[in-house]
Amino acid sequence: MAELDYRSCFGAGQDVEVQKRMLSVPKIDNLDDLIRELREAFATEYVNIERVQDLMSAYNSNPRDWIKFAKFDPHRYTRNLVDEGNGKYNLMLLAWAEGQGSSIHDHANSHCFMKVLDGSLREVRFAWPSESEEEEEKEMQIIGQTTLKTNDVTYMNDSLGLHRVENPSHTQTAASLHLYSPPFESVLLFDQRTGHKTKGKCTFWSKYGVRTPFSAISAKLDAEDYENN
Ligand code: SIN
Repeated sequence: MAELDYRSCFGAGQDVEVQKRMLSVPKIDNLDDLIRELREAFATEYVNIERVQDLMSAYNSNPRDWIKFAKFDPHRYTRNLVDEGNGKYNLMLLAWAEGQGSSIHDHANSHCFMKVLDGSLREVRFAWPSESEEEEEKEMQIIGQTTLKTNDVTYMNDSLGLHRVENPSHTQTAASLHLYSPPFESVLLFDQRTGHKTKGKCTFWSKYGVRTPFSAISAKLDAEDYENN
């Protein structure tokens, strides 16, 4: 597949008609509309980062649209595939039970868009540990912290650092919609106390609303697996 060209503004080389169409954000009434518009935003090799953020912001979360993807597990947050975006991105719903969170991780050179669908999520950003800091086992440096509420959208990539996301509530679950482009199958995981990193595979707890068969998952499992199952 041809490499995508991600731009933060409309670039030379992009068709004028496409640029004009992209200037107005369409009305997005439900998740199906959002999925359709996202596919269109990724239809050519030019991807406009702000456009993707605008589309995700334009969708007003309605649990009726996404409840079938929101599969909770009492032990860890779950990753549930919603759309494979023609191989150009993965759109997934993450279901966070009370107090659950991810490990500190990178984004494998991908672009990460995240929208809170329900509840609120705390995002903590960290600086990449330098080689010497990793050798010295230094505590990782926090460079930012935000609490995102329902319908908020944020964007992340490796040049902005590393992050961890958690549901800070002990009484309420949370759900979020994530788009990763290009899709990836593994990330680097970091230990906050030492900056040491390990590789972790990313798996799905369900795909298109259907639980991923356990045999398929266990065949793929190895000591490095960290995500689901
Ligand atoms: C996150 O914390 O950004 C979610 C990580 C994941 O995709 O599992």
